[in-house]
Amino acid sequence: MFFGLLANPELAPKRAVLNDLNHHLVTVYEVVRDEVESLIEALGALSESYLEAGDDERSEFYYAQRSRRPTGRIDLAARFVFLNKTCFNGLYRVNRRGEFNVPHGKYRSPRILDIEGLRDASQALRNVELTCSDFGEALKAPQAGDFVYLDPPFEPLSKTSSFTNYTQGAFDRSEQQRLKWAIDELTERGVRVMLSNSAQDYILGLYSADRGPFGRPGMRYRLETTLARRAINSRGDRRGAIDELIALNYSADEERRALESSRPRNS
Ligand SMILES: C[S@@+](CC[C@H](N)C(=O)[O-])C[C@H]1O[C@@H](n2cnc3c(N)ncnc32)[C@H](O)[C@@H]1O
Repeated sequence: MFFGLLANPELAPKRAVLNDLNHHLVTVYEVVRDEVESLIEALGALSESYLEAGDDERSEFYYAQRSRRPTGRIDLAARFVFLNKTCFNGLYRVNRRGEFNVPHGKYRSPRILDIEGLRDASQALRNVELTCSDFGEALKAPQAGDFVYLDPPFEPLSKTSSFTNYTQGAFDRSEQQRLKWAIDELTERGVRVMLSNSAQDYILGLYSADRGPFGRPGMRYRLETTLARRAINSRGDRRGAIDELIALNYSADEERRALESSRPRNS
């Protein structure tokens, strides 16, 4: 979302804050922003060792990288990107001890090092504030007129697809409920909010009214669905496009007016 907005001059934010509770992920963003050339060098070394190895040695190299502890921030970021590019389906999952536990992916020639992409991302993040907090804390800052996009762990569509372990603690229904109430508070403060999640009954119910915090009446949201490509599913036949839910606290008219007013005038 952030990189997409930035690529469009009409939508590019003047100021942006990106937040995630996963401190490894936030460190990767910081290293891409502040030390991209060192990252390119470290990732280049991992990429070369992996791509030059035969099938068996590649697997061995992957598991050795997965089980070792990073030696510093650059190494942490290089190892994170390396594992993301070579693991099964680009999945991110940790066990209860917070250790990355996705198996090897066995792609023939994964693009581990994308020098141009990393330099572009570094440039895009130049003036961005990166924070690592629970959403409850992070959502205290936005003020009336700000725009917040939320991309929480998706509510699983079925019991077998229950995958919410981006961090040590699982993001269960009580977390989805807590997030909905935080969004109600943003709405009361005049902050514009867009949330994406799976088009699952519990989430649909949550955003189409029901109860608010401490017995207050619940707030309703404008709901849209969009087809989203999903690479992550244990069943290959369910890996195509699926309905994804978008919940918004502003109308389509408001959206149109805001877009028109941000367009440069020909005069
Ligand atoms: C669907 S992913 C979105 C990832 C990110 N937007 C991206 O595209 O790289 C959900 C993210 O929510 C984060 N998360 C989980 N619990 C959180 C919490 N309580 N507060 C803030 N972020 C949380 C996870 O670490 C994970 O990165």
